[in-house]
Amino acid sequence: MKKKALIFGVTGQDGSLLARLLIKKNYVVHGIKRRSSSFNTSRIDDIYQKYGDKSFFLHYGDVTDSLNIYSLVEKILPDEIYNLAAQSHVKVSFETPEYTANADALGPLRILEAIKNLKKRKKIKFYQASTSEMFGNSSPPQTENTKLEPESPYGTAKVFGYWITRNYRNAYNLFASNGILFNHEGIYRGETFVSKKITSAVAKIYLKKQKHITLGNLNAKRDWGDAQDYVDAMYLMMQQKKPDDFVISTGQSYTVKKFVELAFKAINIKIRWQGKGLSEIGCDAQNPKRIYVKVSSKYFRPNEVNFLKGSSSKAKKLLGWKPKKKFHVMVEEMVKYDIKQLKL
Ligand code: NAP
Ligand code: GDD
Repeated sequence: MKKKALIFGVTGQDGSLLARLLIKKNYVVHGIKRRSSSFNTSRIDDIYQKYGDKSFFLHYGDVTDSLNIYSLVEKILPDEIYNLAAQSHVKVSFETPEYTANADALGPLRILEAIKNLKKRKKIKFYQASTSEMFGNSSPPQTENTKLEPESPYGTAKVFGYWITRNYRNAYNLFASNGILFNHEGIYRGETFVSKKITSAVAKIYLKKQKHITLGNLNAKRDWGDAQDYVDAMYLMMQQKKPDDFVISTGQSYTVKKFVELAFKAINIKIRWQGKGLSEIGCDAQNPKRIYVKVSSKYFRPNEVNFLKGSSSKAKKLLGWKPKKKFHVMVEEMVKYDIKQLKL
C-alpha cells in the first residue's frame, strides 16, 4: 500500500517542492489549494500534468474553514499531514494581523482538532511549519531551547501554532512535530520576499528591463538555506518513531547587503555602498554614477528581527540532516533562473 500525504499549502514554495519529493518517494499526494480569482497553481501545474489523478490529487480548501478541513481529513485519511498553509509574509502580517492569526494560529489548531476527533480510527502524523521568526531578537545562535519572543503578528501567530502542536502531542498522544525552519529560498520563492525580489530585479537589470531596485533594511541578518534541503528535513521528521521539534538552519548568517552583492556578482557587477540610512545607495564600483540599489522607508517594518542564526545540531544528530547547498551557489542559481525565465 502506498503511503498517503495531505499537504495544506501545496501551491506555495515549500508545498510544491514537498509534493515532488513525496511523489518520488512513492506516496500518493493530496494537496489543498485555495479558491482564487486568478491562477495560483503555477508551481504545481507540471506535477498535475504528469501525475494528476494518479498519484497527485488537488482539493479546494482553506485553513480558516474547520468543516472543510474535517471533511477533507476524513475523506482522504492520510498517513501524514503537512501544514504549510499560512499568510507567510512578515510585513503583510502587520497590515492583516487578524487574518494572519486566523490562518497561522487557528489553522493548525483546526487541523489538530480534525485529527483528534476523527470518527474513523487512524494514527495520522502531523507536521507544523514553525519558524525562526518566533525567536524574534533572542540572541543567536537560536536552538530548540531559545526563548520565543516574536516581533510581529506573524511570529506571534506562529508561536501559538508551535505550542498547540506540542500541547496536542502531550495531551492526546498525537504524533505532532514542529519543524522550526530558518529562512529558505530557491527558484520557487514568492516574488515579495527579499531574496526573490533581489534576484528577479538583478535579472531585469541584466536584460535592461529595470534600472534599479528599492529595498528596506539592508542590515538585517538572516540564516538563509536552500528550500529543497529544508523540505528533505520535513520528510525526515515525519519518518521518526517519536514526534519532536527540530531547528533547521545552516548555522551561517548574512546581511541583506551581502545577498545583494552576491546577486549582482552573478551578472559581473561589483556593488559599492555609499551613504547611510535612507540615503544609502548601492552603485557600480567601476562607475559610481550608476546607482543600482536605493532605500525606502516603505519597506521597513514597525518591528524588525535583526539577527537570525540557527544551530541544527539536534537535527544533525537525530535526523542525520545537514544542509547541502552553499549560500552563494543558491543566490547565483536564483539569478540565472530568473534571467532564463525572462528570456522565454
Ligand atoms: P508560501 O510560498 O507563502 O506558501 C504558503 C501557502 O499557504 C500557499 O500555498 C498559500 O496558498 C497557502 N495559504 C495561505 N493562506 C491559506 C489559507 N487560509 N488556507 C489554505 N492555504 C493557505 O510559503 P512557503 O515559503 O512555502 O512556506 C511554507 C510554510 O512554512 C508557511 O507556513 C511559512 O509560514 C513557513 N515557513 C517558511 C519559511 C521560509 O523561509 N520559506 C521559514 C519558516 C517557516 P496561495 O498559493 O493560494 O497563496
Ligand atoms: N520582503 C522584503 N522586501 N524584505 C526586505 C526588503 C524588501 O524590500 N528590504 C529589506 N528587507 C529585509 C526585511 O526587513 C527582513 O529583515 C529581511 O529582509 C528578510 O525579509 P523577507 O525575505 O521578507 O523574510 P522574513 O525573514 O521577514 O520572513 C521569511 O522567513 C521567515 C523565517 O525566518 C518568511 O519566509 C517567513 O514566512 C518565515 O517564517
